[in-house]
Amino acid sequence: MADEVRVPDTGIPPTIVFCNHKGGVAKTTTTVMVAEVFSREFNIPRILVIDCDSQGNASESLSPEDITNIPTIESCISDPDHVRYCVYPSHFDGVDFIAANTRLESPIPAEIVVGSGIESIPVAYKTSLDAIFEIIKRVKDKYDIILIDTAPNLSPITQSAIYAATCVVIPCSPIKHAVFGMPIMSMTVERINPDVPVVVVTTIHDRRTSYENLAIKQLQKGFNVIGDITRNSRLSENISKHAYVLSRMEDDRKAPILSFCHALLGVCMAKYKQYDAVEDAVEVADA
Ligand SMILES: Nc1ncnc2c1ncn2[C@@H]1O[C@H](COP(=O)(O)OP(=O)(O)OP(=O)(O)O)[C@@H](O)[C@H]1O
Ligand SMILES: [Mg+2]
Repeated sequence: MADEVRVPDTGIPPTIVFCNHKGGVAKTTTTVMVAEVFSREFNIPRILVIDCDSQGNASESLSPEDITNIPTIESCISDPDHVRYCVYPSHFDGVDFIAANTRLESPIPAEIVVGSGIESIPVAYKTSLDAIFEIIKRVKDKYDIILIDTAPNLSPITQSAIYAATCVVIPCSPIKHAVFGMPIMSMTVERINPDVPVVVVTTIHDRRTSYENLAIKQLQKGFNVIGDITRNSRLSENISKHAYVLSRMEDDRKAPILSFCHALLGVCMAKYKQYDAVEDAVEVADA
């Protein structure tokens, strides 16, 4: 199957970037959830998650081991050929990951020595626009789908991830400041990667709250909202316990997650029709 990959344009597999400069809107939760559901429910065999956030939350959620001392995305940005030392199997079969940790945003020395120049700037802030794309190019034949979790900012590393995307997902919770930030977020994506499909998933939604329902309606008017993930403590609990995201979950709680993942597969894979792994996944998802 993988040997017959026929992907468009750049030759890289579908690369979905989860981004929102607003913090705490479920970017990481959505990234991990999509990785596991794509793997387990849609049988996508080889998934890579790249963590581009120095908080390292996606890495911690996926790693069977302590991530403090393993080579990370920082090393790949400095030299993309290092990627071969930086890919690790997650605790979840079929999902690998590249970790991030605080080395991405190491403290700037209090006294910058004359001539030290760019050396003293943390990697996250001097990442070139094509850095993440260069990393992906080196693993493109090993994965069917790549998912990228980003930090709550628009730093160069976040922009580099957006530049590499073949699809962008903006998770947004129905709270005032998250909704306020959406126009600038979507404009930023458009400026960096003008032709990329951009979809929104509303997250951590309490459907009993009229204020939140109003915010969801507002988002639906302005953006291509393809999913609505309700507040679901089992989802968070499963991720924090390294259990499968849908385990011990009632069907009515699973439904919005499966519906979003199905819709995402359709939108993001539209131009990969000839790509066997995706064709198979769409068939499984549609069944
Ligand atoms: N559907 C949900 N129901 C309940 N809690 C949720 C849901 N989705 C996410 N959470 C919780 O909300 C918090 C924020 O989620 P998460 O860390 O995924 O957001 P984030 O956007 O990645 O944050 P950051 O901007 O810091 O990277 C976490 O405690 C997570 O467990
Ligand atoms: Mg996060």
